Amino acid sequence: MRGPDTQLEERDKQSMPFIALRGVSKVYDQLKQPVVALQETDLEIRQREFVSIMGPSGSGKSTLLHILGALDRPSTGTYLLEGVDITALKDKELARVRRDHFGFVFQSYNLFPELTAVENVEVPMIYAGVPARQRRARAKELLERLGLGHRLAHRPLELSGGEQQRVAIARALANGPTMLLADEPTGNLPTEQGRQIMASLAELNEQGMTVVVVTHDPAVAAWGRRLLTLRDGEIVGDEPVSEAPVLRAYLQVAEGAGA
Ligand SMILES: Nc1ncnc2c1ncn2[C@@H]1O[C@H](COP(=O)(O)OP(=O)(O)OP(=O)(O)O)[C@@H](O)[C@H]1O
Ligand SMILES: [Mg+2]
Repeated sequence: MRGPDTQLEERDKQSMPFIALRGVSKVYDQLKQPVVALQETDLEIRQREFVSIMGPSGSGKSTLLHILGALDRPSTGTYLLEGVDITALKDKELARVRRDHFGFVFQSYNLFPELTAVENVEVPMIYAGVPARQRRARAKELLERLGLGHRLAHRPLELSGGEQQRVAIARALANGPTMLLADEPTGNLPTEQGRQIMASLAELNEQGMTVVVVTHDPAVAAWGRRLLTLRDGEIVGDEPVSEAPVLRAYLQVAEGAGA
Protein backbone atom coordinates (compact mmCIF):
# COMPACT_ATOMS: atom_id res chain seq x y z
CA MET A 1 0.00 0.00 0.00
CA ARG A 2 1.21 3.46 -0.84
CA GLY A 3 0.40 5.89 1.93
CA PRO A 4 0.28 9.65 1.45
CA ASP A 5 3.86 9.90 2.73
CA THR A 6 5.15 7.65 -0.02
CA GLN A 7 3.26 9.66 -2.62
CA LEU A 8 4.76 12.82 -1.25
CA GLU A 9 8.23 11.30 -1.35
CA GLU A 10 7.70 10.20 -4.95
CA ARG A 11 6.62 13.70 -5.92
CA ASP A 12 9.61 15.25 -4.19
CA LYS A 13 11.92 12.84 -5.96
CA GLN A 14 10.54 13.83 -9.34
CA SER A 15 10.86 17.56 -8.80
CA MET A 16 14.28 17.26 -7.17
CA PRO A 17 17.39 17.09 -9.36
CA PHE A 18 19.11 13.70 -9.28
CA ILE A 19 22.43 15.45 -8.76
CA ALA A 20 23.10 18.95 -7.44
CA LEU A 21 26.63 20.29 -7.13
CA ARG A 22 26.98 23.44 -5.04
CA GLY A 23 30.30 25.26 -5.19
CA VAL A 24 32.10 22.04 -6.04
CA SER A 25 35.75 22.36 -7.04
CA LYS A 26 38.67 20.00 -7.54
CA VAL A 27 42.22 20.99 -6.77
CA TYR A 28 45.06 18.54 -7.26
CA ASP A 29 47.85 19.13 -4.78
CA GLN A 30 50.97 19.08 -6.85
CA LEU A 31 54.24 19.45 -4.96
CA LYS A 32 55.16 22.85 -6.37
CA GLN A 33 51.79 24.37 -7.18
CA PRO A 34 48.18 23.22 -6.91
CA VAL A 35 46.29 22.48 -10.15
CA VAL A 36 42.71 23.71 -10.22
CA ALA A 37 41.10 21.06 -12.42
CA LEU A 38 37.56 22.24 -11.65
CA GLN A 39 36.67 25.72 -10.44
CA GLU A 40 33.78 26.27 -8.02
CA THR A 41 30.87 24.80 -9.91
CA ASP A 42 27.09 24.76 -9.52
CA LEU A 43 25.33 22.12 -11.61
CA GLU A 44 22.06 20.23 -11.53
CA ILE A 45 21.26 17.13 -13.52
CA ARG A 46 17.79 15.57 -13.54
CA GLN A 47 16.79 12.00 -14.12
CA ARG A 48 16.34 11.00 -17.77
CA GLU A 49 18.58 13.80 -19.05
CA PHE A 50 21.11 13.10 -21.83
CA VAL A 51 24.05 15.45 -21.25
CA SER A 52 27.07 15.88 -23.53
CA ILE A 53 30.21 17.49 -22.13
CA MET A 54 32.74 19.09 -24.48
CA GLY A 55 35.83 21.24 -24.02
CA PRO A 56 39.53 21.34 -24.89
CA SER A 57 41.98 18.78 -23.55
CA GLY A 58 42.74 19.56 -19.90
CA SER A 59 39.57 21.64 -19.39
CA GLY A 60 38.32 19.34 -16.61
CA LYS A 61 35.83 17.07 -18.41
CA SER A 62 37.07 13.81 -16.87
CA THR A 63 37.47 15.50 -13.50
CA LEU A 64 33.82 16.61 -13.57
CA LEU A 65 32.66 13.17 -14.74
CA HIS A 66 34.59 11.45 -11.94
CA ILE A 67 33.06 13.76 -9.36
CA LEU A 68 29.55 13.27 -10.77
CA GLY A 69 30.01 9.50 -10.54
CA ALA A 70 31.46 9.66 -7.01
CA LEU A 71 34.70 8.11 -8.27
CA ASP A 72 36.46 11.13 -6.87
CA ARG A 73 35.72 13.55 -4.04
CA PRO A 74 35.39 17.32 -4.47
CA SER A 75 37.98 19.55 -2.78
CA THR A 76 35.28 22.07 -1.79
CA GLY A 77 31.52 22.33 -2.00
CA THR A 78 28.55 20.04 -1.56
CA TYR A 79 27.34 17.12 -3.64
CA LEU A 80 23.65 16.34 -3.19
CA LEU A 81 22.42 13.02 -4.57
CA GLU A 82 18.61 12.99 -4.58
CA GLY A 83 18.82 15.75 -2.00
CA VAL A 84 21.20 13.90 0.30
CA ASP A 85 24.67 15.28 0.96
CA ILE A 86 27.16 12.54 0.10
CA THR A 87 30.25 14.72 0.55
CA ALA A 88 30.97 13.47 4.05
CA LEU A 89 30.39 9.76 3.47
CA LYS A 90 33.08 7.30 4.43
CA ASP A 91 34.88 5.50 1.59
CA LYS A 92 32.87 2.32 2.08
CA GLU A 93 29.54 4.15 2.05
CA LEU A 94 30.58 6.14 -1.00
CA ALA A 95 31.50 2.91 -2.80
CA ARG A 96 28.01 1.59 -2.11
CA VAL A 97 26.40 4.80 -3.42
CA ARG A 98 28.56 4.46 -6.54
CA ARG A 99 27.63 0.82 -7.06
CA ASP A 100 23.91 1.45 -6.58
CA HIS A 101 23.54 4.59 -8.71
CA PHE A 102 26.23 4.79 -11.38
CA GLY A 103 27.51 2.81 -14.33
CA PHE A 104 30.78 3.76 -16.01
CA VAL A 105 31.99 3.39 -19.58
CA PHE A 106 35.51 4.43 -20.61
CA GLN A 107 37.41 4.85 -23.84
CA SER A 108 39.27 1.58 -23.25
CA TYR A 109 36.79 -1.18 -22.59
CA ASN A 110 38.67 -2.67 -19.60
CA LEU A 111 37.18 -6.13 -20.08
CA PHE A 112 38.77 -9.23 -18.55
CA PRO A 113 40.43 -10.91 -21.56
CA GLU A 114 40.07 -14.43 -20.18
CA LEU A 115 36.34 -14.09 -19.48
CA THR A 116 33.54 -14.42 -22.04
CA ALA A 117 31.17 -11.54 -22.79
CA VAL A 118 28.51 -12.92 -20.46
CA GLU A 119 31.03 -13.55 -17.68
CA ASN A 120 32.39 -10.01 -17.99
CA VAL A 121 28.88 -8.61 -17.53
CA GLU A 122 28.41 -10.81 -14.46
CA VAL A 123 31.46 -9.43 -12.61
CA PRO A 124 29.80 -6.39 -10.93
CA MET A 125 26.88 -8.60 -9.89
CA ILE A 126 29.29 -10.96 -8.11
CA TYR A 127 30.47 -8.03 -5.99
CA ALA A 128 26.85 -7.05 -5.37
CA GLY A 129 26.08 -10.57 -4.14
CA VAL A 130 23.58 -11.55 -6.84
CA PRO A 131 23.05 -15.36 -6.95
CA ALA A 132 24.71 -17.17 -9.87
CA ARG A 133 21.59 -18.12 -11.83
CA GLN A 134 20.08 -14.66 -11.58
CA ARG A 135 23.42 -13.16 -12.58
CA ARG A 136 23.69 -15.27 -15.69
CA ALA A 137 20.10 -14.55 -16.72
CA ARG A 138 20.50 -10.80 -16.28
CA ALA A 139 23.84 -10.71 -18.10
CA LYS A 140 22.33 -12.53 -21.08
CA GLU A 141 19.33 -10.23 -21.10
CA LEU A 142 21.53 -7.12 -21.06
CA LEU A 143 23.75 -8.40 -23.87
CA GLU A 144 20.67 -9.27 -25.92
CA ARG A 145 19.33 -5.78 -25.32
CA LEU A 146 22.59 -4.40 -26.75
CA GLY A 147 22.36 -6.62 -29.82
CA LEU A 148 24.99 -9.12 -28.68
CA GLY A 149 22.79 -12.16 -28.08
CA HIS A 150 24.88 -14.03 -30.66
CA ARG A 151 28.19 -13.20 -28.97
CA LEU A 152 27.60 -14.38 -25.39
CA ALA A 153 30.45 -16.90 -25.28
CA HIS A 154 33.01 -14.79 -27.18
CA ARG A 155 36.08 -13.48 -25.40
CA PRO A 156 37.04 -9.80 -25.88
CA LEU A 157 39.73 -10.58 -28.48
CA GLU A 158 37.09 -12.37 -30.56
CA LEU A 159 34.93 -9.22 -30.67
CA SER A 160 35.19 -5.95 -32.63
CA GLY A 161 35.95 -2.74 -30.72
CA GLY A 162 32.31 -1.67 -30.98
CA GLU A 163 31.14 -5.03 -29.69
CA GLN A 164 33.60 -4.87 -26.79
CA GLN A 165 32.28 -1.43 -25.91
CA ARG A 166 28.72 -2.76 -25.95
CA VAL A 167 29.80 -5.51 -23.54
CA ALA A 168 31.25 -2.74 -21.36
CA ILE A 169 27.93 -0.87 -21.52
CA ALA A 170 26.04 -4.05 -20.55
CA ARG A 171 28.45 -4.46 -17.63
CA ALA A 172 27.87 -0.83 -16.60
CA LEU A 173 24.12 -1.56 -16.50
CA ALA A 174 24.50 -4.78 -14.51
CA ASN A 175 23.54 -3.42 -11.10
CA GLY A 176 20.69 -1.24 -12.40
CA PRO A 177 22.20 2.24 -12.16
CA THR A 178 20.18 5.44 -12.50
CA MET A 179 22.94 7.20 -14.42
CA LEU A 180 25.40 6.05 -17.03
CA LEU A 181 28.64 8.06 -17.27
CA ALA A 182 30.80 7.66 -20.36
CA ASP A 183 34.24 9.21 -20.93
CA GLU A 184 35.09 9.29 -24.65
CA PRO A 185 33.15 6.05 -25.24
CA THR A 186 33.74 6.22 -29.00
CA GLY A 187 37.35 7.46 -28.80
CA ASN A 188 38.91 4.19 -30.01
CA LEU A 189 36.26 3.31 -32.57
CA PRO A 190 35.82 3.78 -36.31
CA THR A 191 32.97 6.19 -37.15
CA GLU A 192 30.30 3.59 -37.85
CA GLN A 193 30.97 1.58 -34.69
CA GLY A 194 31.00 4.82 -32.71
CA ARG A 195 27.64 5.71 -34.21
CA GLN A 196 26.24 2.38 -33.06
CA ILE A 197 27.49 3.00 -29.53
CA MET A 198 25.77 6.38 -29.47
CA ALA A 199 22.58 4.85 -30.89
CA SER A 200 22.67 2.33 -28.01
CA LEU A 201 23.13 5.11 -25.44
CA ALA A 202 20.31 7.14 -27.05
CA GLU A 203 18.01 4.12 -26.89
CA LEU A 204 18.85 3.53 -23.23
CA ASN A 205 18.11 7.20 -22.57
CA GLU A 206 14.74 6.89 -24.31
CA GLN A 207 14.00 3.93 -22.01
CA GLY A 208 14.66 6.16 -18.98
CA MET A 209 18.41 6.00 -18.30
CA THR A 210 20.14 9.25 -17.36
CA VAL A 211 23.22 9.56 -19.59
CA VAL A 212 26.30 11.81 -19.41
CA VAL A 213 28.88 11.58 -22.21
CA VAL A 214 32.25 13.33 -22.39
CA THR A 215 33.57 13.72 -25.93
CA HIS A 216 35.82 15.75 -28.22
CA ASP A 217 33.65 14.85 -31.19
CA PRO A 218 30.73 17.18 -32.04
CA ALA A 219 29.08 14.36 -34.02
CA VAL A 220 28.99 12.36 -30.77
CA ALA A 221 27.89 15.31 -28.60
CA ALA A 222 25.01 15.97 -31.01
CA TRP A 223 23.31 12.75 -29.83
CA GLY A 224 22.69 14.38 -26.43
CA ARG A 225 19.96 16.82 -25.44
CA ARG A 226 21.96 19.23 -23.29
CA LEU A 227 25.49 20.45 -23.96
CA LEU A 228 27.86 21.54 -21.23
CA THR A 229 31.02 23.30 -22.41
CA LEU A 230 34.07 23.41 -20.17
CA ARG A 231 37.05 25.74 -20.41
CA ASP A 232 39.87 25.98 -17.87
CA GLY A 233 37.87 24.04 -15.30
CA GLU A 234 34.79 26.20 -15.65
CA ILE A 235 31.39 25.51 -17.20
CA VAL A 236 31.22 28.29 -19.80
CA GLY A 237 28.22 26.94 -21.70
CA ASP A 238 25.01 25.10 -20.74
CA GLU A 239 22.45 24.94 -23.55
CA PRO A 240 20.11 22.61 -25.37
CA VAL A 241 22.01 20.64 -28.03
CA SER A 242 19.45 21.82 -30.57
CA GLU A 243 20.50 25.43 -29.95
CA ALA A 244 24.28 24.92 -29.71
CA PRO A 245 26.03 26.71 -32.59
CA VAL A 246 29.03 24.32 -32.54
CA LEU A 247 26.72 21.35 -33.08
CA ARG A 248 24.46 22.83 -35.73
CA ALA A 249 26.23 21.13 -38.61
CA TYR A 250 25.94 17.72 -36.92
CA LEU A 251 22.33 17.74 -35.78
CA GLN A 252 20.70 16.60 -38.99
CA VAL A 253 23.26 13.85 -39.36
CA ALA A 254 22.49 12.60 -35.85
CA GLU A 255 18.74 12.82 -36.37
CA GLY A 256 18.94 11.14 -39.74
CA ALA A 257 21.10 8.39 -38.29
CA GLY A 258 18.89 7.95 -35.24
CA ALA A 259 15.67 7.68 -37.25
N1 LIG B 1 45.53 13.13 -10.75
C1 LIG B 1 45.88 14.35 -11.15
N2 LIG B 1 46.87 15.04 -10.53
C2 LIG B 1 47.20 16.27 -10.93
N3 LIG B 1 46.62 16.94 -11.92
C3 LIG B 1 45.62 16.33 -12.57
C4 LIG B 1 45.19 15.00 -12.24
N4 LIG B 1 44.18 14.65 -13.07
C5 LIG B 1 43.99 15.71 -13.88
N5 LIG B 1 44.84 16.71 -13.59
C6 LIG B 1 44.89 18.03 -14.25
O1 LIG B 1 43.61 18.61 -14.15
C7 LIG B 1 43.24 19.26 -15.37
C8 LIG B 1 41.95 18.68 -15.91
O2 LIG B 1 42.17 17.33 -16.27
P1 LIG B 1 41.05 16.43 -16.92
O3 LIG B 1 41.61 15.06 -17.03
O4 LIG B 1 39.78 16.58 -16.17
O5 LIG B 1 40.88 17.09 -18.37
P2 LIG B 1 40.03 16.62 -19.63
O6 LIG B 1 39.17 17.76 -20.03
O7 LIG B 1 39.35 15.33 -19.33
O8 LIG B 1 41.16 16.41 -20.76
P3 LIG B 1 41.25 15.35 -21.96
O9 LIG B 1 40.31 15.84 -23.01
O10 LIG B 1 42.68 15.42 -22.39
O11 LIG B 1 40.87 13.99 -21.43
C9 LIG B 1 44.45 19.10 -16.28
O12 LIG B 1 45.21 20.26 -16.20
C10 LIG B 1 45.19 17.92 -15.72
O13 LIG B 1 46.56 18.02 -15.99
MG1 LIG C 1 39.58 13.38 -20.08
